[in-house]
Amino acid sequence: MPTEEQIREALTSVIDPELRKNIVELGMVRRILRHDDGRVEVTVSLTTAGCPIRAHFQQAVSDSVMALGGVPGVGVDFDVLNDSEKQALQQRLGRGTLPQGALAQVKNVICVGSGKGGVGKSTVTANLAAALQMEGMQAAVMDADVWGYSIPRMLGVHGRPSISRERKIVPLEAVAGVKAISIEFFLDREDQAITWRGPMLHKAIRQFLEDVEWGELDYLLIDLPPGTGDVSMTLAQLLPQARFVIVTTPQPAAQKVAKRAAETALRYDLEISGVVENMSPFRGPNGDRVAIFGEGGGQALADELEVPLLGKVPLQEDLRVGADEGRPLVLSDPDAPAAQALFHTARGVIAATPQELPTMQPPSGPPLREITGTELPMVAPDQTSPKPAEEPQGRADEPPDEQARPAA
Ligand SMILES: Nc1ncnc2c1ncn2[C@@H]1O[C@H](COP(=O)(O)OP(=O)(O)OP(=O)(O)O)[C@@H](O)[C@H]1O
Ligand SMILES: [Mg+2]
Repeated sequence: MPTEEQIREALTSVIDPELRKNIVELGMVRRILRHDDGRVEVTVSLTTAGCPIRAHFQQAVSDSVMALGGVPGVGVDFDVLNDSEKQALQQRLGRGTLPQGALAQVKNVICVGSGKGGVGKSTVTANLAAALQMEGMQAAVMDADVWGYSIPRMLGVHGRPSISRERKIVPLEAVAGVKAISIEFFLDREDQAITWRGPMLHKAIRQFLEDVEWGELDYLLIDLPPGTGDVSMTLAQLLPQARFVIVTTPQPAAQKVAKRAAETALRYDLEISGVVENMSPFRGPNGDRVAIFGEGGGQALADELEVPLLGKVPLQEDLRVGADEGRPLVLSDPDAPAAQALFHTARGVIAATPQELPTMQPPSGPPLREITGTELPMVAPDQTSPKPAEEPQGRADEPPDEQARPAA
């Protein structure tokens, strides 16, 4: 029969996926009881009573203790940290609040990025989400491009999310059951200009992650804005488990720029799952190969980063038309060459990512830093228009653009 010390040691393999530390280190193991018949009872203290990760913790605690051997059964029960315990934990972690478990049931978070704009990140993200869904996975897309959001159009989903009884934002359901959140859903007009930067932006991204009822997901895909700016940094801090997929076009010049995006990911210790080459050569009507953007850049980048080339998506007009009309090509014409390449990519992503509960995925990456800032002007559907932006105008990734300033 294992000793209490051994049991405690075994419980260090159970991870709080949001706080990125094991439950022993977090002081969440309230009590370990060893009965005469060998059965073990563990009480885990949660940060919030309705923690969606409860069932996962139960399984993980039980599995890790059973793995010691010599234990006929494990009972797991839960209580909640009291206010002073919560405060002490917050202080120890250097955070103003403790996460409420919004991402606790998300197995994989994948940021889709590129060095430069217009290479097809959003198109790939939208189709990849739909393809993952067709492969039997529950997928969602978070549109982190608050200035150039395009996910609602590509997934054919518009509207205003409702607020759940737990005061969480309920994502909208798009084609094929893909869940989606985008800044567009919170604007009064579709073409309303977004002028937030800096702290306000951080807060918006954080709310998209923490205040949204994501529920159980196999994949949360994050469509990044072009470049390697503030958004990527905020996400890297909030999502220590996130992986990156880098989209590039085939020409060597694009590959150099894409490498910068990869370097940002690596700087934050985020793993790169692979490269997707988009706008690759296609077969013309006579069967001849047309390589508008050249050839080989995706493979070269993948080799350089020592990651797999997940797919080569050819240029295809129907892919663009489908994206414009909210009908991802993988759904409307799954046999089309670009759709086939995107399915191949989806299967590559599945092969490159763990399918286990986040409670058993070891933490990696740098320590979390507190993120401060202004609340997003998110309103319940029945309320009036959002508060005006309080931040200076311009894109956070770029020096303020004179033309973007309001007329004084
Ligand atoms: N393989 C392809 N074949 C044909 N058209 C494509 C392909 N990939 C993307 N497109 C089209 O190219 C345009 C740019 O793609 P998209 O908006 O996905 O790029 P992006 O990298 O997300 O851009 P941004 O950096 O502005 O966010 C879109 O009109 C899209 O439909
Ligand atoms: Mg985009």
